[in-house]
Amino acid sequence: MNEQIANIQSQALELIAASTDERTLDDARVASIGKKGTLSLAGALIKDIPKEEKAAFGQSLNAARTAINSAISEKQAALQEIADKAALSGIDITLPARSLPAGGLHPLTLIRDEATQVLRRMGFALADGPEIEDEYHCFDALNTPADHPARNEKDTFYFNSGKLLRTHTSSVQIRTMETAAPPIRIIAPGSAYRRDEIDATHLSVFNQLEGLFVDTDVTLPDLKGTLEYFFHEMFGTTTEVRFRPHFFPFTEPSFEIDVKLQIKGQAPRWIEVAGCGMVDPAVFEAINATRKDNALDPEKVTGFAFGMGIDRLAMIRWGIKDIRLLIENDTRFLSQFA
Ligand code: PHE
Repeated sequence: MNEQIANIQSQALELIAASTDERTLDDARVASIGKKGTLSLAGALIKDIPKEEKAAFGQSLNAARTAINSAISEKQAALQEIADKAALSGIDITLPARSLPAGGLHPLTLIRDEATQVLRRMGFALADGPEIEDEYHCFDALNTPADHPARNEKDTFYFNSGKLLRTHTSSVQIRTMETAAPPIRIIAPGSAYRRDEIDATHLSVFNQLEGLFVDTDVTLPDLKGTLEYFFHEMFGTTTEVRFRPHFFPFTEPSFEIDVKLQIKGQAPRWIEVAGCGMVDPAVFEAINATRKDNALDPEKVTGFAFGMGIDRLAMIRWGIKDIRLLIENDTRFLSQFA
């Protein structure tokens, strides 16, 4: 090998061997085989070399370049290994992996889904309606007179337009009956809004689940049987269920439903869980007036309706003492249900 090239090669290999990181290794590469590196400059001299020595000179050049390149690759690998080791030092790769916290369903979602499933098994279909309602669908069509306290501005959120945040999901019953023909069997889970003072048992928004069954020959025993079955499914088959006479403008007769339950850490007692009743014929008449086809002729069809608070069901089920926990999104509370 050409002596000059041999010198260049051995100097380059020394520099490569001495380099301690990627930076100094790259400096060594530039100094030797870079555009203006020692080997490249030597290569430029080939044109001045006598013809018969050119081939040997060229071979020397190539051999030196190959040697330098492979020394660089080896050094690169060695430096990488050192860096990897340093990165891993102090880490015990045999330790179990950190757990990734998984999400879970909110208790209100859990209880709503459960209640919905029980009712769907009985043939109730899901129905929906707007949360921003008009007075007609929230009150008038539900036989609720203009002077009824629920319509008071102190109790209901009104918009300047005269619309309001629905105070109950009963408005979905009206909207459904306006378009569907009997038999109608629907449930409407959704938010309802009231201007309640917020405390441990009241929020200004809560979740309701309403149901409606309209057909020929729907009777009070149908109502009782359906809801007794429902609450047995929700709270256990031995749970006592009682129907206490009550008043709602849109049902006649009307009842409140109590279940006798023992909430964690309390003596068993009757707890109100729902309102219900047989649809008042005045409601059918209001809808017939809109439909103009008498499809809900009170002489031919009857129906029952019920409504309950999902938040209340959750509080009973899990012994939750403060309804505000259900909207605070404190993961210490919520993780108990995941
Ligand atoms: N809409 C009533 C309420 O919000 C509940 C109810 C629904 C009562 C259907 C009777 C029939 O309190």
